[in-house]
Amino acid sequence: MSNTPASKTFTLTDDDNGQSWQYPVLEGTAGPGVIDIRKLYADTGHFTFDPSFTATGSCKSRITYIDGEEGILMHRGYTIEDLAEKSNFMEVAYLLLYGDLPNQKQRSKFDHDITYHTMVHEQINYFFRGFRRDAHPMAIMCGIVAALSAFYHDSLDIWDPDQREISAHRLIAKIPTLAAMTLKYSLGQPFMYPRNDLSYSENFLYMCFGLPAEPYRINPVLANAMDKILILHADHEQNASTSTVRLAGSSQANPFACISAGIACLWGPAHGGANQEVLEMLDQIGTKDRIPEFIEKAKDKDDPFRLMGFGHRVYKNFDPRAGVLKKACDEVLNDLGINDPRLELAMELERIALEDEYFVERKLFPNVDFYSGIILKAMGFPTSMFTVLFAVARTVGWISQWKEMIEEPALRIGRPRQLYTGPAKRSYVPVEDRD
Ligand code: SDX
Repeated sequence: MSNTPASKTFTLTDDDNGQSWQYPVLEGTAGPGVIDIRKLYADTGHFTFDPSFTATGSCKSRITYIDGEEGILMHRGYTIEDLAEKSNFMEVAYLLLYGDLPNQKQRSKFDHDITYHTMVHEQINYFFRGFRRDAHPMAIMCGIVAALSAFYHDSLDIWDPDQREISAHRLIAKIPTLAAMTLKYSLGQPFMYPRNDLSYSENFLYMCFGLPAEPYRINPVLANAMDKILILHADHEQNASTSTVRLAGSSQANPFACISAGIACLWGPAHGGANQEVLEMLDQIGTKDRIPEFIEKAKDKDDPFRLMGFGHRVYKNFDPRAGVLKKACDEVLNDLGINDPRLELAMELERIALEDEYFVERKLFPNVDFYSGIILKAMGFPTSMFTVLFAVARTVGWISQWKEMIEEPALRIGRPRQLYTGPAKRSYVPVEDRD
């Protein structure tokens, strides 16, 4: 980010008295500049008003850049297409956390550090018994991840860089173990302990689908697809759940509690919960001949139904992740010899929607959630686990954004204001005198 004096300013003028104020424009490496309005309230006695933050920059960040018009997604300057094709999730995790791709030595140390944190305290197993077997896995993850702060008192000091790093490693390492335990608990199967001889993605599949009664064979196509899915979901600028993590972190809450807050926000169907909703929507549509009926429902303002997996606050072009996922979908289904009619249905739905004026006019394209559910289903995950897998991947993005915020000089608590539209001041009326 440039720290040189602003070359451009915006002037705000009060039309009632002609008073005006100048606000500097801060320019970044790429993308729109920002108008620095931090002095606006002191100058004018007014707040800005942007309830869903459609035009608000909440922070400076060096981690992820999105160009919604061009459908560009970069992590630390590397395009998501390059990372998905040429890298792997552990490398991308290192890149997000530390800012550069690791050399061989850094890579080996990071792999070792993460691998040797994958086990969870044995007491955590007992938390699961408090949940019904049919509890939604995201409900369990919200609770269990926050509870990690009850076990790791040695890494809760957010001002100590070493403790921040240990907490980050613990979260990245343990989130797949906890996610797999959540799946096993719902199935009534025993928890599978992590194995240090497996890669991150292989280990996750092993803990999810392995059984103590027989050896588990790693399918390299599935492990590769899992790794790609994790890369594609790892970080995405200041989305709702990342902003939740940052806001929680601004109060100096411990990192485990902040990540739990991010998981809670991600659960929403408008956000990470959409991948589960997409599959349920495809099952609801059922056959191609019913697609027009659902397209009309999605366009009907009186009908709350939306085409799940379509549209995005930032992308007004194809979500670059959807294209990579669609290709991975074909590979997984072909390798497994699965002919999932939902894939055909999804592709037909995409074709019809992208020819429909309503979607074209509003630039509603398939997003990351549109194809991910089909792959995850083919890999054997129940629909209820889809958003948990999103959280497994996004944890490295959340903790990288949290770390970046904590390392910013002069961290301040985030505290938005409002436009008050409630009753004017009025006197208290005793209950006997009320109508
Ligand atoms: C993720 O932010 C991120 O980066 C998120 C994410 C990440 O990696 O973190 O990318 C992950 O959350 C992807 C999005 C997953 N959600 C869904 O697929 C749910 C379905 N999509 C939407 O509900 C919606 O598109 C949002 C929530 C994604 C975006 O909502 P916005 O930006 O607030 O857009 P909007 O609701 O104002 O929609 C603009 C117009 C409206 O119509 P008009 O009022 O202009 O007539 O488009 C319509 C909307 O009704 N619209 C849809 C639609 N999405 C938007 N109409 C039908 N179906 C849809 N899916």
